[in-house]
Amino acid sequence: MTRRGKVTVVGSGFYGSTTVLRLAEYDIFESVVLTDIIEGKPEGIALDINQSRSIENFETKVIGATTTADGGGYEKTANSDVVIITAGLPRKPGMSRMDLIDVNAKIVRQVAENIAKHSPKAVVIVVSNPLDEMTALAQLATKFPPNRVMGQAGMLDTARFTHFVAELANVPISSVKTLTLGSHGETMVPVPSRCTVNGKPLTEVLSEAQVSDLVTRTRNGGAEIVALLKTGSAYYAPSAAAARMAKAVIEDAKIVMPVCAWVDGQYGISGVYLGVEAEIGRSGVNKIVETKLTDSELSALKAAAEAVRAKQADVKDL
Ligand code: LAC
Repeated sequence: MTRRGKVTVVGSGFYGSTTVLRLAEYDIFESVVLTDIIEGKPEGIALDINQSRSIENFETKVIGATTTADGGGYEKTANSDVVIITAGLPRKPGMSRMDLIDVNAKIVRQVAENIAKHSPKAVVIVVSNPLDEMTALAQLATKFPPNRVMGQAGMLDTARFTHFVAELANVPISSVKTLTLGSHGETMVPVPSRCTVNGKPLTEVLSEAQVSDLVTRTRNGGAEIVALLKTGSAYYAPSAAAARMAKAVIEDAKIVMPVCAWVDGQYGISGVYLGVEAEIGRSGVNKIVETKLTDSELSALKAAAEAVRAKQADVKDL
């Protein structure tokens, strides 16, 4: 089999290292690079993952690269097809994602500038928080066309919603379909009208109160895990989501996924990064796919757009 594509993951925390492990185990990429500013950490993780290759049967090799703020070490990431930015601090219990904006903006800006220099044709997937704002910042700092910069959130929030529904309805995960749009934060918009269990509308399977509880739990899905872990935030489901997005790009899969994408006119919303469904392929976001929403879902999406628009305008000065 021919392996193709180079994917770089920036940041060797749990999110980054788990993403790299998933990417390597797909065994479809030519190379996967893991970076960090902590000297030796990415090389150590890469060596460890590479030593698992004969057990898990994959050929893709992981390359570790210690980098510096001024761009040292980035040559190993050169000409990546996809770059996933996980760099930045995670939340502590009680923090909102927005509490990270100042510290993570500095990190994401610097990383994005270095990526743009070394991988000018890459598709960038941002996962650092606050997600919608860091995605907007990465686009500004790379100066890439907006379709080549997107954020991972909808895949994760949808997966959480799906899990909660499957658990409560006591059905296999594969029989549940859900959707979340909007921001990866307070103005997340779970879309019950697009959710089904074995093809039946969610509202026929669960009561209104149950659906409303699951919507709230989904919106707080990340914070629930942060509170349990006490240090750090979720990474198994988040890394699965980010890795699948990278795979869709390299394979030019043209599949529709909920992602944080540049919205320009769809749903009557313009000029903002927002969680929507989009067709993902080799050029990143091929197109935004509009879905039919109820009046209240559409107004929640518009409210989400306005909430993130204000914050996204601020990031250019951070
Ligand atoms: C979460 C973080 C990764 O939602 O944003 O778990």
